[in-house]
Parts: sequence; structure tokens; C-alpha cells
Amino acid sequence: MDNAKLLGDSPDPVGNDPHVWGKQWTSRKVYVERDYLDEGKITRRDQLSWKFQMEHFDTLFARAPGKEVLECGCGSAIMSVHAALQGFQATMLDFSPDGLDLAKANFDANHVQGKFVLGDVLKLPFPDNSFDVVMSYGLLEHFPDIDAPIREMVRVLKPSGIFAADIIPKRFSIATLGEIVTSWVRFGNRLKRLQFKNLFRESRRNFPHYENNYSIQKYRRALEEAGLKDIVVTGSGLFPQIGLPFGLEGKIYVPIIKSLRRLEKYFTRSSSRWTDWFGCSWYAHGIKA
Ligand SMILES: C[S@@+](CC[C@H](N)C(=O)[O-])C[C@H]1O[C@@H](n2cnc3c(N)ncnc32)[C@H](O)[C@@H]1O
Repeated sequence: MDNAKLLGDSPDPVGNDPHVWGKQWTSRKVYVERDYLDEGKITRRDQLSWKFQMEHFDTLFARAPGKEVLECGCGSAIMSVHAALQGFQATMLDFSPDGLDLAKANFDANHVQGKFVLGDVLKLPFPDNSFDVVMSYGLLEHFPDIDAPIREMVRVLKPSGIFAADIIPKRFSIATLGEIVTSWVRFGNRLKRLQFKNLFRESRRNFPHYENNYSIQKYRRALEEAGLKDIVVTGSGLFPQIGLPFGLEGKIYVPIIKSLRRLEKYFTRSSSRWTDWFGCSWYAHGIKA
């Protein structure tokens, strides 16, 4: 594969650039710790969210016609590590070489095998009908034109194969509340360390990548037009990520969410208006006709 050519293939929609992503992956290594897999040890909200995603994976993908799974925009590949541990043959694709390195490190650390492919989701280097499951977690919101990546993902899916995507749109939701609290915590931390330079700007969420704010209806239409049936697109996640100080996240917030887990599951599965208004993200799945 001609890497230089591939990296130039994706139009750069306002910051969705492999090099910008690469900087993120080299500065913030996300490891698939055993904690993700062992609920008793979970102390962070993000770990708990992944744990819930893994449970959902187990239910949804039990219906897949086979075991070949592709994760597009894999980054750290947390879900693919889980898939591989469940006996799936995982292929990971990302246009950032640093993202792929991190995915490899996570596979090695968990003693599982996978295929790592440098490529663009807008031009997937696989024949039609190759995979039983095609999934992405935190990818589709980075495209101004969501039809193009969805069409490609469905193209490489086998008939009766399952498409699944977790999408974090840029919009007001319960996640906004978490961002506001986290910003104030950062503000306090900087004050404590006497870091006054650009105090407000540095305390705010600093995420350089393009994010769309498309509605559930727009995603549903894109999935239908790409040839999926039995489509579900719904809000998901009742409790936002909040970076709390003094170990409060592990001691108080995570135990509260764990104890309210049935409520959160109910919220996410209800497909109600509340879920669609306030859910932290969109969750989409469908089956290739
Ligand atoms: C939010 S991250 C995904 C995080 C990942 N699901 C995880 O578990 O860590 C988005 C990823 O999509 C990749 N990406 C963005 N646009 C892409 C494209 N056109 N083709 C392939 N990968 C892309 C980025 O390099 C980045 O690693």
C-alpha cells in the first residue's frame, strides 16, 4: 500500500487530518487496561462506558453471520480488542499510523492477533461483501458528508452482516453538562498550580477535530440509503464523563452510575424523546439487506 498517497487521499474537512490525529495518539496513549474488562476494578466513567459498549457488542454481534469484524477509524481499538478476545477475527483500519501503532500495542498487551491496515474509510481497500461486522466508535461525526463513509462501510459488509456506529455529535446534551463541570475543575487545577497564562482558554475543552451536529433522522436516512434494514438510531448514555478531582470520580461518581445502571440501560434502549434530546451520543445499527 502506498502510504504517502493514502494519507493524501482524504479531503481534510476542517481538521480531520491524520497528522492531527497522530499528535493526539502520541500525546495521549489510550491503553486497553484490564480494568475495562474487569468491572470490579473500574474507577473511571470512560472505562464504564466502554464496559457497557462491550456488553452491547456481545448481545448485538451474537447475531452476526460470521466472525470477520472490521473497525474503521480504530484509534486505540478498544472494542476490537474485546472482539478479538470474544473469538472474532479483527481487522483494524485507520488513516493515522500513530493510531494503528497504538492499536497494535493494545493487541499485543492483551495477547490477541489482528490485522492492521493503514487506509482511508472513504476508499476502503477491501472487496465488496468482505466482513460480517463493520463498526466504528467516534468516527462518523468527523465527516461533513456522512453518506460517503457509511456507503463504503456498507459496501464491504456481507449480506446479513451487521453495521454499528457510536457517534458523538456536537450539540447540546447531558454531555455538555459534564464538559462544563470538567472545565471548572481544570480551571481550579490551573489556579492551584499558579498557571495563569490563557487561564480560560486552556481550561476549556480543546478538541481540534471537525465534528458535525447532524440529527438522528439524518443518520437514519444515510443508513437507509446505503442499503441497511432493521435500522435503529437512538440517543445513548445518561451520565456524562466528568473529570472530578480528589479521586471523587472513582469513589463516588462511578459507584453511583453502577448502581443506576438499569436506569441508564432503560434510558438508552427506550428510544424515547428524552433519550434523543439528552443522550450523550447517538448509537446506530442495522443489517445489510
Ligand atoms: C475518535 S477517534 C476513534 C477512537 C477509537 N474508536 C478508539 O477506540 O480509540 C477517530 C479515529 O478515526 C480516524 N479517522 C478519521 N478520519 C478517518 C478516515 N477518513 N479514514 C480512516 N480513519 C480516519 C482517526 O485517525 C482516529 O484514530
